[in-house]
Amino acid sequence: MTYPIMLYGEPVLESKAEPVTEFDTPEVHKLIDDMFESMYTAKGVGLAAPQIGIRKRIAVIDLSVGEDPKQKIVLLNPEIIHREGTQTGEEGCLSIPGFREQVTRAKTVRVRAQNIKGEPFEMTGEELLARAFSHEIDHLNGRLYITHVSALKRDLIRRKVRKLAKAGEWG
Ligand code: NI
Repeated sequence: MTYPIMLYGEPVLESKAEPVTEFDTPEVHKLIDDMFESMYTAKGVGLAAPQIGIRKRIAVIDLSVGEDPKQKIVLLNPEIIHREGTQTGEEGCLSIPGFREQVTRAKTVRVRAQNIKGEPFEMTGEELLARAFSHEIDHLNGRLYITHVSALKRDLIRRKVRKLAKAGEWG
């Protein structure tokens, strides 16, 4: 099933998600399938469980947006174990639709996570994948990308979102 994406303003997006403790259950398989489906419906390249209102440390990434099954990445309990270099580029988020900002991230990011069976693995991402790793793991820690832009820009986005919400045009 496709879940609606939680929008900026929902407390779940700014709270820390809980570790996954059960693996390879029908529930976990279903949740991950639903996360991919919800992400593709929203035309995103990454989705973290809190974005569909589920406080669990699960993220899915697919830079091909459903075009190439080999690019599907499932991360359970991921953590960044190494960062290198920097890159600055435009970033957006399904939970803050209509906005994009320049964000500086590490250029190379090494992640340690568990797969759907609970087996640990490590993976290195560069450029866009490094950005996706950083962005999605931030979500699991209750952190949105706008916390990486200047206070001035962040306030501007907050004000615009509040206006849209008042007009009934946010969510
Ligand atoms: Ni996001």
